[in-house]
Amino acid sequence: KVKIAVFASGSGSNFAALENACREGELNAEIALVMTDKPAAFVVERAKQAAVRVVAVEPKAFPTKKAFEKTVIDILRQAEVEWIVLAGYMRLIGPDLLAAFPSRIVNIHPSLLPSFPGKDAIGQAIAHGVKVTGVTVHLVDEGMDTGPILAQEAVRVVDGNTEMTAQSIHAIEHVIYKETLQKLFVANAIN
Ligand code: GAR
Repeated sequence: KVKIAVFASGSGSNFAALENACREGELNAEIALVMTDKPAAFVVERAKQAAVRVVAVEPKAFPTKKAFEKTVIDILRQAEVEWIVLAGYMRLIGPDLLAAFPSRIVNIHPSLLPSFPGKDAIGQAIAHGVKVTGVTVHLVDEGMDTGPILAQEAVRVVDGNTEMTAQSIHAIEHVIYKETLQKLFVANAIN
């Protein structure tokens, strides 16, 4: 089994979907830990309920991003983590963490990148008046929601209705992430 760390800052619905996929054997991985920068985030409750280890590392506790990432890297190495899976982790990955996991950090984003990177991608898409938006899974590089695209799926915007559009997007996220990761892990195991 591939050892992964799920990084999350929010509700953790994508974490829950991945954890479920691991338990059901759809994703041949083990979630070694959930890394969060927000100790009060709901993902912490979800992880506890699923008996998955949670590590909260807050950047504000460190003098520099470098010091923050060194601590994160040490924890990941100690847990023998092979892949980092970002699931609503609302923080830019710095050069040290990228170098420690080259081409081994994956992100999911609720838009058809390169459109609407950054925060509130669903709100941005609705505000722009697009008729189709979607979901992107990609490898992480130094940019914000950039890096090689692994999978995308389109979602029709429900008439300016943010709530309903968000629901469709999240439902797709919960399927596309586990499927894309499974393919990625299989491809990398063979190589
Ligand atoms: C997801 O929609 C994810 O795509 C998005 O945050 C949400 C987290 O939801 N990520 C980004 O916007 C990254 N720029 P969750 O906490 O319920 O999984």
